[in-house]
Parts: sequence; structure tokens; C-alpha cells
Amino acid sequence: MSELHIRELSPQLGAEVSGLDPVVPVDPATLARLRALIDDRGLLVFPGLRPEARFQTYLAESLVSKTDIDLDKLLVDEMHQVSNFDKISAIPIGALMFHSDTMWEIEGCTGIALYGKHIEPGAIPTMFINAARAWDTLPAALRARVEGRFAIQCQDATDQRRSYVQNDVLVVDFEVKEQLRLPIGYTHPRTGRKVLYVSPQLTHHIDGLDYDESETLLEELWAHMYAPENVYTHEWREGDLIVWDNIALQHARPDLNSKGAPRTLRKTLVPSPMRDPALMSIKVKYSRVGDAV
Ligand SMILES: [Fe+2]
Repeated sequence: MSELHIRELSPQLGAEVSGLDPVVPVDPATLARLRALIDDRGLLVFPGLRPEARFQTYLAESLVSKTDIDLDKLLVDEMHQVSNFDKISAIPIGALMFHSDTMWEIEGCTGIALYGKHIEPGAIPTMFINAARAWDTLPAALRARVEGRFAIQCQDATDQRRSYVQNDVLVVDFEVKEQLRLPIGYTHPRTGRKVLYVSPQLTHHIDGLDYDESETLLEELWAHMYAPENVYTHEWREGDLIVWDNIALQHARPDLNSKGAPRTLRKTLVPSPMRDPALMSIKVKYSRVGDAV
């Protein structure tokens, strides 16, 4: 059994874990402890772990699963990476406003791991907030305005934002314009906790409200969620592995600029089981709230 040393990273989220041996499989007692820890803290940082891609994938899948994973079915993608330096990269430029990956997809993603493969001084950080805690701490009057309401999630909502979008924010143009209608108080499929499930990068609008009403309410929610004291910023060090709960937490980054310090992160996405069919019954066509019908 690994001798783990654990310390909390901020009052809102995160724990740093030292002492893990990056070898598949992790012993059951250690795995159980780490699963409980990620359910509680949302984000685990393993400083200087330098995992191979197989261990990264194994650990990410194991930590956001209730049961042991099938090692024979582990799909390891060595070259899925985010970089402003290597030619192979997903989302290689721009700032990203807060979001959870795949909020708009029927097949979502429960967990994410990033490994600091190549980091030079001055590399941009990754920021996190705890959206489960944001729901728990939502002022009663604000909660009453969103309880029972749904939001329309899409692949890129940057064209919806007036006050949150900046010139350096990444705009993603997908061929298929999918949208998904999900509860604003979204029940986490594994932990059962309610999560405040809206984000400036991926939430198109609140269903049933006109554009101005929707934006005003969203901005009130975001002022609560992204208050500076709620944000944890991870400054990258080469060799770090971080794993987080992609439903309970949201993440963001400043502009990833090709002129900035090199930063290459190997990425693992843990696919989720199908969302509850009752939640995905309405899939609306892509259009702007402000467009004439
Ligand atoms: Fe992301």
C-alpha cells in the first residue's frame, strides 16, 4: 500500500497527493482512499509523478469510477495533448472561459487528467472552481430563481456573451451544431450532489427566458461562481499530473499564445455513461437567442 501524504490546496477544492507509485494497478485500499478524496475535493494534484500514458489513463478512469475498470479495455491515447509548442495539439490557441468539457454532449465526460509533459517558466496556468460548492452556497433568493429551470448547452457560446467574452477567447466552429437542454441544478451521476451547471463558454441561454433576462440571470450566477476567492489557480510544473471531476468542477485558462512559454499537456478524457434519457429528450436546433425567428 502506498504511503500517501495529502494536503488541501484551497478551502474550496483540490488536494495535493504525494507518495503514489505510478504503477498499474494501484492497490485497492489506496484506490478507495483516492476515490473518496476526489469526491470530496474535486481535484487531485500529483506533483512530479511523471506517469506513462497508460498509468495516466488508468488512474483518471479509476478515480471517477465506482468499480474497478477493465484493464483490457483501457484506450490509451499517447498523443492527445494541448500545446502551444508541439505541432500535434487540440485547442492550441486562445483563452477559454470557465466550462466543463462536453457540457453539450449526450455522451459527456466525467473526468479529465492533464500531465505536464513539457513546461517552461512562465507557462500559463489552469484555473478551477467548484460548481458543486457553488450550488450549495447559492443565496436562497438566487436559487429560487433557477430551481427547476433548464439551460441550453452548446459547443461554443462565445457569440452570446457581451460582458464575459474577450478578444482572446477561443471560438470553436463545429460542423454539427448540437445543443442539449439540461437542468441548471444538475445532479452529479456518481456523487448525487447538485452542481450549478452553467458556464460562459458553453451555456447558450436559460430556457424560457428572453436574451436579456437570460444573460442577466447567468451573470448573477457567474458572479457567485467565479468570485476571485473561489478560484484555484494551478501553476504548471513539469512532471505534475492532475486529475479532476469534470462535472463537479469547471476549468478555464488565459490565452494560450504561440509566443508564450512552451506548455505541452498530455490529456485524458474519461467518457461518461449515457446521461439520463429524461434529461436529453429535447435537442434544440442551433440559433442565436437574438436572431429573428
Ligand atoms: Fe476544457
